[in-house]
Amino acid sequence: MDLISIRDLTKENVKEILDLADGIADGKKKIDLKGRIAATLFFEPSTRTKLSFQSAAMRCGMTYLDFLPELSSLKKGESFADTIKTVEGYADVLVVRHAKEGSARLAADMTAKPVVNGGDGGNQHPTQTLIDLFSIRRMKGKIDGLNVTLLGDLKHARTMRSLVYGLAMFDANVTLISPKGLEMDPIYLKEVEKKFGLKVKLKGEPEFRDADVLYVCRIQAERFADPYEAQSIMKKFRVKKEDLDGTKKDLAILHPLPKINEIDPEIDKMPQARYFEQAHYGVPLRMAIIDYVLRKG
Ligand code: NCD
Repeated sequence: MDLISIRDLTKENVKEILDLADGIADGKKKIDLKGRIAATLFFEPSTRTKLSFQSAAMRCGMTYLDFLPELSSLKKGESFADTIKTVEGYADVLVVRHAKEGSARLAADMTAKPVVNGGDGGNQHPTQTLIDLFSIRRMKGKIDGLNVTLLGDLKHARTMRSLVYGLAMFDANVTLISPKGLEMDPIYLKEVEKKFGLKVKLKGEPEFRDADVLYVCRIQAERFADPYEAQSIMKKFRVKKEDLDGTKKDLAILHPLPKINEIDPEIDKMPQARYFEQAHYGVPLRMAIIDYVLRKG
């Protein structure tokens, strides 16, 4: 069993993983995978995904191998394919992040060991989506029928592409707001409409008075052809304290992190800011994912 895209999971599969993560988070369920080894192969920078997978592996009683591209034979010219084929002999599950779209699928095609996608370019980030769904369900008690506004660089963010699909699966009402030119490719909106009947609302203004959840992401500067364009958008794009005037009292603001300039630091102190709690859910959720993919073989 590989987890490469959120499309690899049915709603039932997602529920099973979220329920298992609930049991782990509440101390009702123990995972014992003593003797197993996880490998974290991150060819792109990461703080949360890598460290929470490593923490999750250890909390399951496993150990982990950390691949550091800068200090590896990649520097001598070894290929991605040869790296994967080598590490499959050293570990029971491989977590892979790479800047190229499709790289996690490629890795999965090269090994019989389970591969989990920790983010492939601007394409997919399924484990983040599971954390996001888990966070929403824990914070709000449900996902269906909630008004969820996604705000940020919807053109380049893999978190957003994956999340729109996950939210559609659970019948949330989704509104998209992005700076001009950074809209989500309509192909993803057509897909969720066709598969789940979700009609996504598009808004030109940063206005989220009806939102139960506001999910923000940064401008993905590293995926821009022109770095100056990214910098100029970054300077202008920010959720300010005043923008929260008139919004729902129990609004939850989520963010996959890292955040750069896009959220006023004043907001961090407000009860609506739930993104660090969301980041901490990465551990029980990724424990559930490791257990799930190893059980499915
Ligand atoms: C995200 C990513 O890597 O796509 N980070 C994460 O995994 N929590 C979001 C981002 O980098 O903007």
